[in-house]
Amino acid sequence: MAKTRILTGITTSGTPHLGNYVGAIRPAIAASRSTDAESFYFLADYHALIKCDDPARIQRSTLEIAASWLACGLDPEKVTFYRQSDIREIPELTWLLTCVTAKGLLNRAHAYKAANDANREKGEDADAGVTAGLYMYPVLMAADILIFNAHKVPVGRDQVQHIEMARDIGQRFNHLYGAEYFVLPEAAIEANVATLPGLDGRKMSKSYDNTIALWLPASALRKAILGIVTNSLGIGEAKNPDDSNIFSIYQAFASADETAAMRQAFADGIGWGDAKQKLFERVDAELAPMRERYDALIARPAKIEEILHAGAARARALAGPFLDKLRYAAGLRSLLSQVVAPSDRQGDTQAKAETPALQPVVFRENNTFAFKVLDAKRNVLKTQDGFVDAKAAMAAAREAMQVLGAASD
Ligand code: TRP
Repeated sequence: MAKTRILTGITTSGTPHLGNYVGAIRPAIAASRSTDAESFYFLADYHALIKCDDPARIQRSTLEIAASWLACGLDPEKVTFYRQSDIREIPELTWLLTCVTAKGLLNRAHAYKAANDANREKGEDADAGVTAGLYMYPVLMAADILIFNAHKVPVGRDQVQHIEMARDIGQRFNHLYGAEYFVLPEAAIEANVATLPGLDGRKMSKSYDNTIALWLPASALRKAILGIVTNSLGIGEAKNPDDSNIFSIYQAFASADETAAMRQAFADGIGWGDAKQKLFERVDAELAPMRERYDALIARPAKIEEILHAGAARARALAGPFLDKLRYAAGLRSLLSQVVAPSDRQGDTQAKAETPALQPVVFRENNTFAFKVLDAKRNVLKTQDGFVDAKAAMAAAREAMQVLGAASD
């Protein structure tokens, strides 16, 4: 049976914090180790442009996030790990999807509606400061997911609506063009992944400015943890673990036994200073070895660039032929492939039967390989270059022939 394909994106607009680690990085890497799943994890830098117009920050965040995932144990041999903007098929698919997406659907997106509401509250025009990028966010995200036919998309609750929209959009395309081109994805919400509280007790989030950066040096990490707000109960007074940020964070890092021991310590009236010191030690024990790898990786951006390129090549080997098929489905076709009259869409099967035999030709071009697909009259129906070897070119030629030969099935 085909493996379940898991795909998720990380927007590259900030510096990773403890909440990202516990809520996204750690569970995603654990999931990627499962043998019956195939993972696609990517740096969503096109999405980052929607909320960030500082180029240096986008670049820095891309480096930091890539290094973080690798330092935390992501295996780029096992996971297809890439940068969204390296996959040129994604913006192209975004347009094909844009043309089948109801504008009304986008009007209902939570993020867009929230921007409208905030404007109205200030007495401004509802769309003040809203870019078309923000409005189109769900379509770009649908393209991310649909281009790889992902089954499961692990996301936070705030993103569930976007997955539902990707389903709607994919379904609409399938329906319009009469075939199951796209797998309809499902959101996967990890039930037992904690949302970490931040320094002030609210959910740790960049928008609350209450985060603890993931790769602080140990001394700075300790200082940050000492700064987490607590109540004013003193040493010897019993404390309620279920109402404590310190305990919640501790639990996200500790084993069941360690957690039980800390629960007891709370009942026994451990002082906040002690509890924070224990929390620091536990978090640091988990992060220290990864921090060392992170620092080494950050110092070698060329290595990270190489990993991302290899990931992109693997991803594009899937996305390229699939996009060809989608373009064909929508009518963006070579004029040499058999023209089917608009009224004759039902006749496609017949047209297919009459399509003359196609023939692949693979050839070397400078240092790479290319292919052509010829019809019986040796018209070139399609050509593509840039393959690493003849085998890859031939495989792509075969895919292309299927698409060309399939009229619109
Ligand atoms: N929008 C997601 C977020 O902010 C990031 C993202 C972009 C994404 N494309 C995606 C997540 C595709 C899952 C699948 O968290």
